[in-house]
Amino acid sequence: MMKPEFSYFSGLCVYFLFLQVTISSEKWMVTTPTRHVLARVGGQAELSCQVIPPQSVGYMEVRWFRSGHSQPVYLYRGGHSMSGEAAPEYANRTQFVKEAIGEGKVTLRIHNISILDDGPYRCSFNDSGFIDVASMNLNVTAVGLETEIHVQAPDADGVIVECNSGGWFPKPQMEWRDSNGETLRHSMKSYSQDEARFFHMKMALLTNRLQGNIICCIFNPVTGEEKQTNIILASEYSHQVLLIWKQRQNQ
Ligand SMILES: *[C@@H]1O[C@H](CO)[C@@H](O)[C@H](O)[C@H]1NC(C)=O
Ligand SMILES: *[C@@H]1O[C@H](CO)[C@@H](O)[C@H](O)[C@H]1NC(C)=O
Ligand SMILES: *[C@@H]1O[C@H](CO)[C@@H](O)[C@H](O)[C@H]1NC(C)=O
Ligand SMILES: *[C@@H]1O[C@H](CO)[C@@H](O)[C@H](O)[C@H]1NC(C)=O
Repeated sequence: MMKPEFSYFSGLCVYFLFLQVTISSEKWMVTTPTRHVLARVGGQAELSCQVIPPQSVGYMEVRWFRSGHSQPVYLYRGGHSMSGEAAPEYANRTQFVKEAIGEGKVTLRIHNISILDDGPYRCSFNDSGFIDVASMNLNVTAVGLETEIHVQAPDADGVIVECNSGGWFPKPQMEWRDSNGETLRHSMKSYSQDEARFFHMKMALLTNRLQGNIICCIFNPVTGEEKQTNIILASEYSHQVLLIWKQRQNQ
């Protein structure tokens, strides 16, 4: 009674083992060399996808797409670019790099990057209904070109120093520092975003420190770039300010 059951069980094991070997020899998966792709506004980005184990994907349907967008960013099918199917905002900006398509590696190059291109992307490979997908983030960055510092006429509370900058993406960090690198407390800080999604910032400092270097520091958290703009409060001017300030305090 025991013997037939045992051979039935081992037969089942052999069957499952066989099934697993057959499936894994047929299947492949999609990977991306970089999870986060950095690109500058106006520059270009390369979204690469690789099928492993390496094999030709020239006969597959390859698609790059974004969630929430009905049309693909790019579609390659039957060995051709299906440019008519791509979303109009990408139509004339993409280039399919397929030198290594025989080893399963393809790249979508996107030109003239804008902030609207920022966000997650996916590439899918479809081999007659067997599909795998990989995800990546396109991190678009922009560093503001101009930063201005204004000093307002002094009053009883001291002087107000204001720093203005614009053209940043993503939202930067901003702070005042003195010449020793110590952070100075701001009295006001505000951010706004224009229709092209660039960030504009304004930050003020109320100080009665009437001499020395005051630095407006703006930091892009994605690239780690920091831009510093400084103003030196001159002592001659400071004496006047101090005088006015003292006078007002005495009133
Ligand atoms: C892309 O370029 C073609 C030919 O140069 C042009 O006909 C088409 O209007 C362009 N499409 C977009 C969305 O700019
Ligand atoms: C790049 O895109 C911007 C809009 O995002 C457009 O104004 C500009 O003409 C484009 N430049 C080129 C070279 O296509
Ligand atoms: C995958 O490709 C097959 C034809 O090879 C097609 O019928 C199917 O719709 C495709 N699937 C997707 C999700 O594109
Ligand atoms: C890139 O953008 C994604 C969201 O799209 C974000 O989660 C990620 O932190 C960003 N990467 C870097 C290096 O900041």
